[in-house]
Amino acid sequence: MATIVVGVTGGVAAFKAPIVVRECQRAGHDVYVAATRASLDFVGRSTWEGITSRPVAVDIAGEGRAEHVELARVADLIIVVPATANSLARLAAGFADDMVSLTVLASDAPVVVAPAMHSNMWLAPATQANVQALRDRGFHVIEPASGALGSGDRGVGRLPEPEEIARVALGVLAARDQASNALAGRTVVVTAGGTREPVDPVRFLGNKSSGRQGLAIASAAARAGASVRVIAANIESALLATLPTAVQVTRVGSALQMREATIAQVADADALVMTAAVADFRPEAASESKIKKDLSNEEAPTIRLVRNPDILAEIGHSDQRPPLVVGFAAETGTDEEILAYGADKAARKGADFICLNRVGESVGFGDVPNDIRLLDARGNTAGRYVGSKDEVAAGLVGHMASFLDNLKR
Ligand code: C5P
Repeated sequence: MATIVVGVTGGVAAFKAPIVVRECQRAGHDVYVAATRASLDFVGRSTWEGITSRPVAVDIAGEGRAEHVELARVADLIIVVPATANSLARLAAGFADDMVSLTVLASDAPVVVAPAMHSNMWLAPATQANVQALRDRGFHVIEPASGALGSGDRGVGRLPEPEEIARVALGVLAARDQASNALAGRTVVVTAGGTREPVDPVRFLGNKSSGRQGLAIASAAARAGASVRVIAANIESALLATLPTAVQVTRVGSALQMREATIAQVADADALVMTAAVADFRPEAASESKIKKDLSNEEAPTIRLVRNPDILAEIGHSDQRPPLVVGFAAETGTDEEILAYGADKAARKGADFICLNRVGESVGFGDVPNDIRLLDARGNTAGRYVGSKDEVAAGLVGHMASFLDNLKR
């Protein structure tokens, strides 16, 4: 039995939300209702209290403050039904001044959102951008249906049937339960971010890697029950703060520091996932003092580079390698070309899998969806994950869990 919080916002489709609550109860779950004030004009307190036999959470002032944190904490799943255009905007922007948005913001449970509104509002670029932002963050936004709308018009924007909403939401819950123990008892080391190779005390050679994909994998592995260690190269503190608190973080700067930390951390690990962008070269010797520009001389200094060790290849080929080693490769080119590069890289580096990240016009950079193929050393495609970094991470973690389980047998 799971605890489900149904968040109701103020749209005419709110009359269907009690059926979603009923369906969740019929599946054996414990349901709480959080409602915005505006929604009470559509479905009142007494309906909710009658169905759930408990008070409906509406007020966030006074004692309610503790209540919202409590609801957020106990929730295994949150369903926002109906979600108005206004509430989508509020969820996307991270508002927390009504019980629904506040519970969503304070919880790390999966969130299913069922929008319902007039077609024009649904199709408005602002709404579509908000929906995309929520999806990128891992929210499950159900597409509204087409048909008669509350306004009397016809078009897209209708709330899907409540039984269908409940079915999708319970599916999300089941997938989470399945994943929640998949890596229990395992130790996973994830390298993330990008190394910086010192030139002098104030300068470095670096790269653009934010560390987001690595942190998403670390979080997904932790959610799947693994004990997770992250080796973080130059990742913003605000991003690191999004990791579950149980994840152990070692901060490093350069490739050599990353090598040392990674070798130390993988000794007793079940898996290593090298998402970090490690510089292939470093200045031969970092100057001890800031390199000055010599105004009398037009010439620029020459910085001699030397090769960095390939951490993945070193660990992948060592006797003490963890049972599962995963590397990342960002490639451009045709499908055929990138598959060949990926397979070659897996074999060369002694990795069990290479996550091949197709980079190009619209995939792979910043916050946009990723398209990742998992290739084994023989060049076979073992999985393909398209979507937000969280969705890709969940897919990869699922694959890692079954790989490790199969080794045991
Ligand atoms: O050869 P390439 O840089 O494309 O390989 C990428 C993979 O190798 C990534 O998993 C990266 O973390 C790892 N790598 C490494 N040490 C290096 C360079 C890359 O471990 N010096």
